[in-house]
Amino acid sequence: MTYTLPASWQPLKAHSATMASTSMLDLFADNPDRAAEFSLDAAGLTLDYSKNLVDARTLALLGQLYAECQLGSGIEAMFNGVRVNNTEDRAALHTLLRAPKAAATGPLAKEYAEVQASLQSVKRISEAVRAGQWLGCTGKPITHILHLGIGGSYLGPRMVDEALSAYADAGIHCDYVANVDGQHIDQVLKRLDQATTLVIIVSKSFATVETRVNAQSAQDWLQQAVPLAQRHLHAVAVTSNVAAAKDFGIAAENILPMWDWVGGRYSLWSAVSLPIAIKYGFARFEALLAGAASMDEHFRSAAWPNNMPMLLAAIGVLYRNFMNIGSHAILPYDHSLRLLPAHLQQLDMESNGKSVSTAGDLVPLQTGPIIWGGEGTNGQHAFHQLLHQGSRFTSIDFILPLQPHHQRQEHHNWLVANCLSQSQALMQGRSREQLPETLSDLRRAHMEMPGNRPSNTIVMAQVTPASLGALIALYEHKVFCQARIWQINPFDQWGVELGKQLSETIYATINENSAPSQATSLDPSTQRLLSLYQNHNRSS
Ligand code: F6P
Repeated sequence: MTYTLPASWQPLKAHSATMASTSMLDLFADNPDRAAEFSLDAAGLTLDYSKNLVDARTLALLGQLYAECQLGSGIEAMFNGVRVNNTEDRAALHTLLRAPKAAATGPLAKEYAEVQASLQSVKRISEAVRAGQWLGCTGKPITHILHLGIGGSYLGPRMVDEALSAYADAGIHCDYVANVDGQHIDQVLKRLDQATTLVIIVSKSFATVETRVNAQSAQDWLQQAVPLAQRHLHAVAVTSNVAAAKDFGIAAENILPMWDWVGGRYSLWSAVSLPIAIKYGFARFEALLAGAASMDEHFRSAAWPNNMPMLLAAIGVLYRNFMNIGSHAILPYDHSLRLLPAHLQQLDMESNGKSVSTAGDLVPLQTGPIIWGGEGTNGQHAFHQLLHQGSRFTSIDFILPLQPHHQRQEHHNWLVANCLSQSQALMQGRSREQLPETLSDLRRAHMEMPGNRPSNTIVMAQVTPASLGALIALYEHKVFCQARIWQINPFDQWGVELGKQLSETIYATINENSAPSQATSLDPSTQRLLSLYQNHNRSS
């Protein structure tokens, strides 16, 4: 098989070349209804995509592209449990984790029942802890959660916890430790009291080094104060490797499942988010799932171009493939969403950072962009300079909740004003002629801003469990659509394996204190750096 470009690719390329030199301000001037026409509501979110280099013909061509990629059948295959993750021969059923009751009698009834049973465990544990009925070894209620996990077993719940912080109501504190860097767990364990802490170890594989090492340190710490017979009061695991969790000493009734058909970066909808249910209540966790389910429903049923994930994805492809923009920023104007860029970074870059197609061909196209970002307005005083005047374009998603969770209206009005002014400034720029003639030519040259820089704005009434669920699901489906266009598998991550393997060799050399030169798989630079570390250890 060789990689075949869809027939609409060349027309899209030609059209995009024209659009790249089209002024967005002219597009608005030519169509007074553009702002409304290039906006869409779905699942409690509004997407304004009018500040993009797109017109009606662009949308028509993108519609053809999706038809050629058979996106509709791809979506149904994913939702119906077809093994769309072909390199691992697995389904990708994160949508089943939040599926409505109708799924109980469908072809995935067995998996649905397992999901519901797992949710019942989440409910049982979270309600007991919140009610002060889950008592630790000294009879005190649990008040602290220590979540250990990394990557998808960390970023999602950590981000959701931050996003929902306004809803905290049970006096429960959660700490999340991901990095194997001992500084973090050291700092956290010094603060916590074993008697009131529940450790939740989250690892789909139960083999990830960082989580294994942190879990062992937490286990040693528990042992100092918790008798073995009462260890089950302080340790829970979420994993698909039940045997390894049991071997580690987790009581069978405290092991909650993960499934091979849910990728780590899509797993926050499962028991991986047990800390969320504990801290915010099971009903709020269910509301998060329901918000995502409503985006699923929209994604599955809305026709092009009234389909929000399809729009976000297609616009991203335009910039990535036809305008050579390799950087995409997520800029939430909301302090509680400040960890969203990190979650979406893993979601997108681990999914679509690929260069081989599902059929095994080298992809002759640019695939996933660099995803990054940060909270507004802080970024305006840091990296926005490059967004406005840098030599390379970055496409941007501004995310704006209309209603804050605080009463400081003046703050919020300024926040909103800044968000809207940034997308406006990026689009309209500033010509030399608009600058006062009293300024020197040199100064005017520096103050000129090119403008015509694109952005989306995603608006929600407020950050609630439901709107957050919809927002995260929106990006999951965006990633899926782009993968379909590029013909890649978004559900595997083979690229992270080699580094893991090499670290085992290096760790063994350190641990056995053997000569780096004997580790013939290591290159001379790595051998020398390793010697530096060994020599340092010998002399310290
Ligand atoms: O970084 C690779 C990765 O496999 C991610 O995909 C995953 O989310 C993370 O490691 C953690 O894996 P696990 O849940 O198995 O510990």
